[in-house]
Amino acid sequence: MMDIGDEKDEITKISHSLKETGEIAKEFSNKLSQGDVVALYGPLGSGKTFFVRETAKCLGAGDLITSPSFVILNEYKTNLPIYHFDFYRLKNEEEIANIGFTDFLNQKGIFFIEWPEKAEQMLPEEYYRIVFEILDKNSRKIIISKIHKMIKHYLY
Ligand SMILES: Nc1ncnc2c1ncn2[C@@H]1O[C@H](COP(=O)(O)OP(=O)(O)OP(=O)(O)O)[C@@H](O)[C@H]1O
Ligand SMILES: [Mg+2]
Repeated sequence: MMDIGDEKDEITKISHSLKETGEIAKEFSNKLSQGDVVALYGPLGSGKTFFVRETAKCLGAGDLITSPSFVILNEYKTNLPIYHFDFYRLKNEEEIANIGFTDFLNQKGIFFIEWPEKAEQMLPEEYYRIVFEILDKNSRKIIISKIHKMIKHYLY
């Protein structure tokens, strides 16, 4: 694991293995608390799901609860519920609204979202953004930042 930059609220890591990605997830899990939303961006197979599972483990998740009829949401058993959404198969914000996404966000828990591009407007005022980039077979660039929509709004 190597830090290659720490600019403003943004940190860039290079992972060379699953083990290193697990270490980055562990470090990240220490930042998280009730109500946090984590949006994970990046192409297919870039490591979003792996990262969520490792982070969830660090937060005390045991078995994965998977509902076969509801593949866009995984729920992990922890003291604090962990909701893991994958919007890949959903078309638009209307479909995401129909699964009750906003109601989920109002519940107690920590929330992870893969393919959050599909629900950009529905993300809260503040959330973590993690961008995954495939460098080669075993290496990933992982950029973690905290988004504050209002501040962004004033700057641009
Ligand atoms: N350093 C690494 N960190 C994370 N995953 C890695 C790394 N090197 C190789 N991989 C592999 O990359 C794949 C990541 O798969 P994963 O399901 O987490 O991707 P994803 O971003 O969730 O894709 P999708 O958009 O399809 O859901 C796994 O097969 C994993 O073994
Ligand atoms: Mg995935």
